[in-house]
Amino acid sequence: MTLAAEVLRPPDDEPEHSERPRVLVVDDEVDLQELVSRALRKTCDVTTAGSAIQALELARRSAFDVVLLDIMMPGQSGLEVCRTLRRQSAPGSLAIVMLTALDDSENRWKGLEAGADDYLVKPFDLRELSLRVNHFALVVRQQRVIRAQVRALRELVELRDDLTALVVHDLRNPLVAVRLALQSIELDCVLEPEQRELVNLGLRSANQVMDATSDLLQIRLLEANRLPLRCEETDLLGLTLGAVEMVRLAAHEKGVDIRFEISSAIAAEVDPTLVRRALENLLANAVRHTQGTIDVEVLSAGGRVVVSVADRGDGVPDDLKDNLFEKFGSVALLKKNARRGHGLGLHLVRLVAQAHGGSVEVDDREGGGATFRLLLPTHHRTA
Ligand SMILES: Nc1ncnc2c1ncn2[C@@H]1O[C@H](COP(=O)(O)OP(=O)(O)OP(=O)(O)O)[C@@H](O)[C@H]1O
Ligand SMILES: [Mg+2]
Repeated sequence: MTLAAEVLRPPDDEPEHSERPRVLVVDDEVDLQELVSRALRKTCDVTTAGSAIQALELARRSAFDVVLLDIMMPGQSGLEVCRTLRRQSAPGSLAIVMLTALDDSENRWKGLEAGADDYLVKPFDLRELSLRVNHFALVVRQQRVIRAQVRALRELVELRDDLTALVVHDLRNPLVAVRLALQSIELDCVLEPEQRELVNLGLRSANQVMDATSDLLQIRLLEANRLPLRCEETDLLGLTLGAVEMVRLAAHEKGVDIRFEISSAIAAEVDPTLVRRALENLLANAVRHTQGTIDVEVLSAGGRVVVSVADRGDGVPDDLKDNLFEKFGSVALLKKNARRGHGLGLHLVRLVAQAHGGSVEVDDREGGGATFRLLLPTHHRTA
């Protein structure tokens, strides 16, 4: 069976749709129990209870889809039974219909407030009763199936993420070995220019895979709140400069110039590795999407640091803006437009910003292009 079929199959512990609805009729009047049971028996499996205590005992022992509950009973009232049943059952797993002889709004209101889904005023039309009970039974069973499918989907997503993390983790060691091997060839061997070019290409490709794998691992850990921030007083100008240097070669190859105005020192208490990776992602995007100049700026104001990366590309398309920072948020649209992208870079940037109590935003740049801003508090507050 495929994973999708597995998810869509009703789980073993849930009743199939084809099974008859299970109904509990609770009323101290035996005649009424009999009347209602007869009306429902054609389509439902009916159990009767003559008191609150008996009803609660039966509900504890078996799972019902619908409970028809009289309000006025000696001893515990139907309203109390209703409250107890609601407390004991998962939301949406049981429908409760109050049966009342009192057609006054006060009791209707009390019944609904106690958690009833509906009420019927005696004497009621038995065909209407049957239709309502079958309708509620269907809704309850559909909700059970949906809940089971949501559970199964959550487990699948967890499994997928765990497998991704495992594969990514196992890729790293061989990748490090490939990088080291290429680096020592580059350093120790006498190479023809074309050979050197090929070794460099191999190194750049290995670095790209390494970055992508680090991003995936960090996203997984940040999403699970399992990546403790290692915050330290960091020179933000130096950090940004380092990130700019990382993309300088790619920019140069495209003829893109990166302008970075260095002002007075700006420090903040951040996790330098994560913030540097976030900046590299913003800069790599800017280089990929621009033909002109990229302006990088670091400012400090009002207890926060703002690093902005402004390019002269086509700007972020409007249809991408809503989901730009979501995980894989851009992938569906990019696919539709036959463009490529993992849709992970900006998600990582946002996770890093949020982990620091900061944020990331994007604006159309005046004169064309996009401006991304990473905003980080100067001082880290531990949660
Ligand atoms: N500076 C930019 N100018 C225009 N569009 C941009 C810019 N930065 C990002 N985008 C758009 O947003 C999309 C999502 O960016 P994101 O960095 O999340 O993923 P990606 O670059 O496609 O892949 P990766 O996960 O490798 O970074 C990009 O594919 C691109 O269409
Ligand atoms: Mg990117």
